[in-house]
Amino acid sequence: MVGGKSAKMERIIGTDELQSGERRSVFVDDIPALVIRIEGDYFVVEDVCSHDGQPLTNGLIQDCSIICPRHAARFDLKSGKALCMPATDPIRVFRTEIRDGAVWADVS
Ligand code: FES
Repeated sequence: MVGGKSAKMERIIGTDELQSGERRSVFVDDIPALVIRIEGDYFVVEDVCSHDGQPLTNGLIQDCSIICPRHAARFDLKSGKALCMPATDPIRVFRTEIRDGAVWADVS
């Protein structure tokens, strides 16, 4: 890459290890995270609600968003943006790539 930093990618999970609608708890760069498959798309997000630290592990997934099980803040899985109160800050999302039959996350 010219004039930029190359991405540091970490292998997360085989693409065939999740069916659409399923999720798996993983660690990404030693951070607890969730990998979620929605049809052919895979999302990797930090598994910590930005409102009060609740794990999002068992949150309802709806319309490409995840709902915190504690106070029902909702986060966009693509951008991490908080879509409703009580959260105002985003959650971290990792850019993903599909390669060699696996999902990779950008941890740079
Ligand atoms: S801890 Fe998630 S909405 Fe409050």
